Amino acid sequence: MAVNKAKGTYDVLPSESFKWQALEHKIREITAQFNYLEIRTPIFEYSEVFHRQNELSDMVTKETYNFKDKGDRNLTLRPEGTAGVIRSFVENKLYVNDPLSKMYYIGPNFRYERPQKGRFRQFVQFGVEAVGSNDPMLDAEVIELAYHFIQSLGLKGVSVRINTLGDQASRKMFQDALKAHFEPVKHELCADCQNRIDKNPLRILDCKVDHRHEKVVNAPTPVMYLTEASKNYFDAVKRYLDQNDVKYVLADRLVRGLDYYEHTVFEIEAEIEGFGAQNVLGGGGRYQNLVKELGGPDLPGIGFAFGMERLLDALTQENIVFYEEQRLDVFGIAIDETHRSYLSQTLSLLRKEGYRATMDFNGKNFKTQLKNGLKTNARYLIIIGEDEYATNSVSLKDTTTQEQVKLSKDELINYLKEMRR
Ligand code: HAM
Repeated sequence: MAVNKAKGTYDVLPSESFKWQALEHKIREITAQFNYLEIRTPIFEYSEVFHRQNELSDMVTKETYNFKDKGDRNLTLRPEGTAGVIRSFVENKLYVNDPLSKMYYIGPNFRYERPQKGRFRQFVQFGVEAVGSNDPMLDAEVIELAYHFIQSLGLKGVSVRINTLGDQASRKMFQDALKAHFEPVKHELCADCQNRIDKNPLRILDCKVDHRHEKVVNAPTPVMYLTEASKNYFDAVKRYLDQNDVKYVLADRLVRGLDYYEHTVFEIEAEIEGFGAQNVLGGGGRYQNLVKELGGPDLPGIGFAFGMERLLDALTQENIVFYEEQRLDVFGIAIDETHRSYLSQTLSLLRKEGYRATMDFNGKNFKTQLKNGLKTNARYLIIIGEDEYATNSVSLKDTTTQEQVKLSKDELINYLKEMRR
């Protein structure tokens, strides 16, 4: 019985994987410019890493894959990168040697969501976390990194939207205002939101059921409840962004879908035709308590994550070629069965010189080898017949110009080197 892929997952086929590699390469290049180093954490963690007392987002409470292992431990497949990275940061005491840890990651995450375009149950995030500083200049630099990344990919129809939730005191005032705002219409909201009014009214603002309700649309915004210090902080972030030429728009209703955020929050949106509802390419913000919540010292952090699938979609939609097609240099053809080992030896020689070379392994006749060789889009065909075999040489055919030359094995390497130049 044939088995299909699990719902909400996808395969990256061999003919497509080079695009992923090219994007990953770009990520490593850009993050290096900002001095981020890669961190790789496990795909599953003890459940309490994600299921924390203060994290009541749908993503964590409803969409995680939770399971017990044979030792009766509660584990969770990570739904996002931040909590695991901070767990590792604390466990490995990275703060001891470095006042600021700048880390990036690329890896799969798992959310039990309704699959649709740009929304999967297993998806890959590229994210960064900078932990250890309360400097608004760092907020601006993290946003600049996201912006610079998008710019350097050549994506045009993209905007950076920023907002602030303010500090704890601002958040508290904002939450009280939301409670007062929603209380009179409590019975009109979905069962979840009725619960949220007391526990966590912020989450009503990104409810997937009630998002069109008039009271949700016209809800108060965080900016109305900022303390003086929070206002100054956000002003500084904007000043540094302006100074460094990072274009952004103010989005006073942006609150983000996770509960750990304070102060600066932002999202990167694709305004690309045909992109549909899943137009948020990435998002992030500052978190002041997560390190402490996970047992570490009182250190703040800030970061973001992009969805790789959505990035690749946007690049495709805008017809941006951000990769080099990986082309086979040589496909080898043996006219006769008896010349195969000589051919194999020749290709081995080429590979030692750094060329990409392969041949037929299915006992095909000359005509089919030729057909299959051309299908690989190799730059050259090497053809070995009786004559080539007897004279320790090869026939080399350029598949673009159709020119064919006979070369000794020594000449072959020099010829290819010359052609490469
Ligand atoms: P998030 O907004 O939940 O933030 O996810 C970031 C990005 O991951 C989204 O903008 C989207 O592109 C992608 N994404 C999320 N869910 C899916 C899905 N089901 N299928 C495909 N793509 C998806 C975070 O995860 C935070 N950890 C970001 C952060 C880092 N904040 C601070 N540091």
